[in-house]
Parts: sequence; C-alpha cells; structure tokens
Amino acid sequence: MAATPNDDRERVREASPIEEVIGKYVDLVQRGRVWKGLCPFHDDGRPSMDVDPERNTFKCWSCNEGGDVFSFIQKFEKVDFREALTILADRANIELRPQFQDPQIQIQRDKDLEFLDRTATWFTQQLKTAEGRPALEYLKERGFSDSCIRRFRIGYAPPGWNSLESSIRQHVENSEDAIQRAVELGLLKSSAEGKTYDAFRDRIIFPIIRPGKGQYRESGEVIAFGGRHLGHPEAVSQGAANPPKYINSPESRVYSKGNLLYGFQQGQEEIRRRRHVVVCEGYTDVMMAHQHGVSNVVGVLGTALTTKSVQFISRAAQCVDLLFDGDSAGRRAAAKSCEHFLGTDVEVKVVLLEEGTDPCDLLASEGGKDRFQKLLKTGTASLNFLIGEILSLHGFSLGDAQPEVVSKTRRELSERVLMPLSEKGQVLLESGVREVARLTGWSESSILMDFQVDRKAQSERDSSRNRYKRTPSDSPSEFPGGSAHAPHFEQNRAPLGTSSLEDQNASVAVIDESVFNDSRSDLTLEPDIITSELFPNRSVDPAVIAECAMTEAAILKTILRDESCMRPMLRLAPVERWTSALHRDLGLLFQNKGKVPELLEIEDPDLKSLLLDLTSRNTRDDEFLDQDQKKNFASRTLAEYLMTALERKKDDFMRTEDKSALVTNINECINMLNNDKFSFSNTSQADEIINRFGLDQY
Ligand code: CTP
Ligand code: MN
Repeated sequence: MAATPNDDRERVREASPIEEVIGKYVDLVQRGRVWKGLCPFHDDGRPSMDVDPERNTFKCWSCNEGGDVFSFIQKFEKVDFREALTILADRANIELRPQFQDPQIQIQRDKDLEFLDRTATWFTQQLKTAEGRPALEYLKERGFSDSCIRRFRIGYAPPGWNSLESSIRQHVENSEDAIQRAVELGLLKSSAEGKTYDAFRDRIIFPIIRPGKGQYRESGEVIAFGGRHLGHPEAVSQGAANPPKYINSPESRVYSKGNLLYGFQQGQEEIRRRRHVVVCEGYTDVMMAHQHGVSNVVGVLGTALTTKSVQFISRAAQCVDLLFDGDSAGRRAAAKSCEHFLGTDVEVKVVLLEEGTDPCDLLASEGGKDRFQKLLKTGTASLNFLIGEILSLHGFSLGDAQPEVVSKTRRELSERVLMPLSEKGQVLLESGVREVARLTGWSESSILMDFQVDRKAQSERDSSRNRYKRTPSDSPSEFPGGSAHAPHFEQNRAPLGTSSLEDQNASVAVIDESVFNDSRSDLTLEPDIITSELFPNRSVDPAVIAECAMTEAAILKTILRDESCMRPMLRLAPVERWTSALHRDLGLLFQNKGKVPELLEIEDPDLKSLLLDLTSRNTRDDEFLDQDQKKNFASRTLAEYLMTALERKKDDFMRTEDKSALVTNINECINMLNNDKFSFSNTSQADEIINRFGLDQY
C-alpha cells in the first residue's frame, strides 16, 4: 500500500475534529474536558468511551479500544488506514494527492474516466437522432420525463456494428489509443480476426455513475454502462436469435461489480438527510422513483446486495427497505441481502412485490407515488423475513414434525441466522433465538441447545477457530458418539415440562447425524455414561442442558459482581462439570487465576466477548434494581444457591433411613439464610456452611 505523504494525513486530521467525527456515529455529551459516549466497540451499558479533543484521541475504559480519529474510522468502518483517510478527506472536502509512487495507475484511471464520460455524452446525443427516436419514444411511453432522462444521462447505442468505433476514429485524436481503451472498457469487442465492433447495439444506455471528485464532483464519474434492448423485432433481426434484455460493461480498472448502487450519486443528499434508503432491483425503478421525488431509492441491478455495498449503506443510512420481486429469484436475493445486514444496527425491512408488479410501472401509474409509499409501509422485518424464507425453503410449516424437515431447517437456521448473530454477541443471539422460537413454535432453550451443538461441530471442523484448550471430558451439550448412539440418547430423554412437539423436534435436530460426522475419537463415549458421570441426578433433556447453561452464565455474572463469591459458588457448582464449553472455559480461567481476569489478559476472542456480554448484562440488570438491591445482589444470589444445595441435601437425607439431627440443622440453616439473604455477605460463612453440610458439588 502506498505511503501517504504525512502532510496529507495531518491536513485531514486537522480538518477532522475527533469529537465531531465520532459524534456522527455515537451520541456524545461533554463532561469537562472530554466528551463521553457509549462505546461502539462493545455492548456498552453506560457511557464508557471518552473522546478527548485536546489530545485528539478516544478511549474506552471498559473494552480498552482507543486511538486517534483514523483508528476510530478504521475500527468502526472496518477499513484500512488508506480508506479511513479517504473517508475523512471526503467528509472534509479535502482532495488527497494522487498516490505519487504509482502515477501510471492514476493516469490510466483518469483517462478511463474521461473516455467513459465522453462516451456517455455521445450516447445521449444518439438518443436525439432519427435513429434514436424509437428508443426515446419507448422511454416516453414508459413515462419518463425529459429531465429524468437528462438527470440519469440516458442514451442510445445505434444499431450499426461500428457506430461508436467510427465516431472514435473521427473525433478522437490518437484514436488507436482510444480504440484500445474502448476495448479494455468493454465498449468495443474484438472478433476472432482481430476486427473491432460495437458491444452495445440498438440499446437504451444507462450509464452507471458513482460519486466523483475533482472535475466529477458535480456530475459523478461514469464507470460502466448497462444497455437494454428495446424489445422490438428489429433487435432480434440484429443477428442474435434471442438477445439478452440487458448487457452490461465488464469489470475494468474503474469498475468492479457488486459494490455499486445505481442512483446513489443522484440520491446521496436525500439519503444522508433522511438516513433511509430504498433498494430496488432495476434501473427503470430507480429513475421513476427519482422522477416522482422519491430520490432515496437505489438499484442493485438484478442481484443481491453484497457485503461491501451493505457496509456502504450502513454508513449512509439507519433504515433500509429492500424492495424485491415476489418471485423465487427475488425472494432469494432479498434473503441474501438480509443476511449481509444481520447484526448491523440498520433497521432493515423487506417489501415483496406481487408477481407481475414493476415498481417503475407502479410509480408511473395513476396515483403511483402514493401507492408506492403505501407499499413501502408493508415491509417485514429482515430477521423475520429471513427466518421465514429458510422455513419455506425446506417446506416447514408450524406444527410439522417431519424429522428430516425439522433437522434440515434447524441446521440452516443455525448456520445462516444464529451463527452470524452470535458472532455479534449474546444479546443479538438471544434476539435471534426468540424470533426463531416465535416462528417455529420450538422452545427457546431447545433452539439454543441445538445451536450450541452446531457451533461446536462447526468449530471442531474449523480447527483454526479452535484456539482455546478444552477439558478432556467434553461437555454433554455436545453429545457426541455419532448416529449409532442416537437411540440410546432418545431413550434417555425424560420429558420435562416441554410439549411433546418441542421434545420431538429438539431430539431430532440433536441426533442429526451430519452434525457429528466428524466427531473426535475422545468424544465417543456412550451418551448414558456421560449422563451418569456428569449429571448424577438429572435427565439429559435438552431443555435442562440449556437451563444449565443459563445457570452457568448466572454464576459467572454473580462472580463478576462480587469476586469474593467465587470460591463458595464454584464449590457448589464445580466448573469442570459445566455443560456449556464456552462458559466452562471462562469459569476455568477465573478459577485458575483466582480472580476475574482483566480483559487484556484474555487472548481468546470468544471468551473475551463472553466476558463483555456478561458484564453488559449485569449493567442491564442493574437498571431494574435500586441501590440496596444492587449492593446485595451477589450475596443474595449466593444465599439462594446455598439454600438450593441445602434443600437437595435434605432430600437425600430424607430418602435414607437416617433422618438424623442433621435435617433439623439444615432446616435451621435454610431459615437463617432465608431471613438473612438480603444482607448475607459473609463468604467465609458460606464456606463454613458448605463444609458443615458437605455441600461441595451440590
Ligand atoms: N438485469 C441485467 N441483465 C438481465 C436482466 C436484468 O443486468 N438480463 C439487471 C438490470 O440492471 C435490471 C435489473 O436487473 O435493471 C432488474 O431487471 P428487470 O426487472 O428485468 O429490468 P428493468 O430494468 O426493471 O426493466 P423493465 O422494467 O424495463 O422490464
Ligand atoms: Mn422492471
């Protein structure tokens, strides 16, 4: 990557006050010398990020992210330094010097842009000729106004094989160079005999324009063309028996497919102002929307959105409506686009058009603008839509318990919805699980459990992601053993308050053979052995296991609140026996360190993000507690765990003949804790109770 001249960087830095730049992304309030805001790099519960205008730095006291205005943009926009510099330079209207060590590239690019711009103008002139009349009439028939045609620089490529080529030869000096360039840009093609001919013939030309700099600041840069045939018989007589409706420029030095949004150049101001984008499929849809004053509409040109364009959109807008065709291709593209938005904080809705409805024609019809606006209000939230698409893809319907359908659906939901959400943190994962539960009727705990199984299988497949060491006896939530053992597992299951449908679904998904097809040799214990070893008193119902995971999270949260609870807590619930591998690993880390480690001390990103999640969940819980409750929360939880353990111990005693005095003592102790639990704070007292009644591992 080219080194940027330092003064470029400093010029941009000077023009980018850090509190202003960050303030565009995060609400900041001034507190003395610094500004404070919610840190965007972790799930922040209270403002832990400081922005210091004097030092020109930011710093999060909670997750330790920090740096200058460039590193903020790099981290936030997930771009490299060079791109961050460009973003800030654009914002401040500073023109960066061309990268001087590669002037060739810059020169070629400039020439390409100039050539494309001139060619676009030439196409627009052809639309005004006699030859172009049918094309213009066609556009008029579809309802396009002159000013719209001008605004989008719509043109026409004449029917001849050499119209563009001969015009270049006539009007451009150094025409051999220009011809060569036209070939490279896909405007001319070469025949087998080396003869060149026009690539676009008898087509309406839609220049693809993106925001530009310098001389192109106003008009934008033309980087490619799309050409639509007119659909009249002459088009067919041109040679090809069945000409494609559109042909488009190939990729080139200035144009790479997949990250362009048709109409963004023309609509960018409106988009920035409203922070709302409507995404359509076609050129004509975008144009007609703009013509009707709805200029926050862009086109993806018949494909799905890509990661890159999603990043781009999320920078520009807060709300996105995806307007796709209701046919299967449109739905697929819409679902794909939704996937790219998962976990971003953009509010995305999907609007499906009835088959045969065209946004362009809808807008052009009587009362079209109103109908279009009404249509936009009918959107389905993207998560809901995506899950729904996956369900219908597998022919799943509510109440359906066909084992193959259920297990395939579950796995696809895990992979395409829950996995990406979980990468953005526990909160988003939980919201995904809730939505899946709502739309499938499965219980949240069984979904979560299955997801954990899938994730485990996934991370084992992908050894590079498997960065932290696991304990030898692996978690029962990962029920290994392969499909051969599945029936054992099935018999072992005890129904536990869940409906039989949920049970059935959950078990089917858990024994889905493909999840285990690469199980490791040390994981081939019989499931019932695992059960008896790790869950002496419990069934292996998935709901129970999910519940265990929740308990484990609760224990960790309590320790985070009050480190001194750690020892008694972990005596009651030894970490080695925890079911969730991730929770267990974090618990082990606590235990080995004898304290809650600093974030910086944790290398594994999964553990780091778990710790952050748990911390922020504590903060959220705090919102519902008053001062006293907050103070006593940890010790109260410890008291409750002690009482549960005592109750269990008592049950065990009652079952034996020996109803000794111990039972009375236990009752007394429970009473004491019960009365005291709001002020119980003595962890050594907890240890003493554990010792006295032998509560280790209860
Ligand atoms: N497209 C393409 N190649 C095709 C068909 C479509 O590149 N063979 C792209 C074009 O960018 C087009 C978009 O997909 O604008 C949507 O396709 P479609 O709805 O068929 O085209 P419209 O532009 O809407 O054309 P019209 O309304 O005139 O039928
Ligand atoms: Mn159309």
